[in-house]
Amino acid sequence: MSAEKGAKIFKTKCSQCHTVEAGGSHKQGPNLNGLFGRQSGMAEGFAYTDANKNSGIMWGEDTLFDYLKAPKKYIPGTKMVFAGIKKEKERKDLIAYLKEATA
Ligand code: HEM
Repeated sequence: MSAEKGAKIFKTKCSQCHTVEAGGSHKQGPNLNGLFGRQSGMAEGFAYTDANKNSGIMWGEDTLFDYLKAPKKYIPGTKMVFAGIKKEKERKDLIAYLKEATA
């Protein structure tokens, strides 16, 4: 796993919609700070879909690994418009980065 590679993936594929730093602004998607160990739909001040808010998912390495493969399959009805990342290695790198960057 390489958080460094993950940072590049985040920059290319996620950063147009998400920030990770504490107090970062919401964009089209919510700020992701504090994500690990938290229930879905909890970022203060972001208007989530009911689908995301009520999914019952606890975000962590395993749930993110499945979600990021195919977000709309994992949370039917989500408004996150993102096809997903098919390559397992890329998802692992990205999650390694997210774990550091959102902590
Ligand atoms: C929600 C991660 C790409 C827009 C989320 C959530 C995560 C996430 C973990 C759930 C947050 C929570 O429950 O608090 C990522 C990652 C991405 C990515 C790692 C890149 C691989 C994108 C892109 C967009 C986007 C490109 C915009 C085109 C959204 C929106 C939501 C969301 C709108 C809220 C979904 C809802 O309320 O149904 N994202 N995202 N995301 N994301 Fe992304």
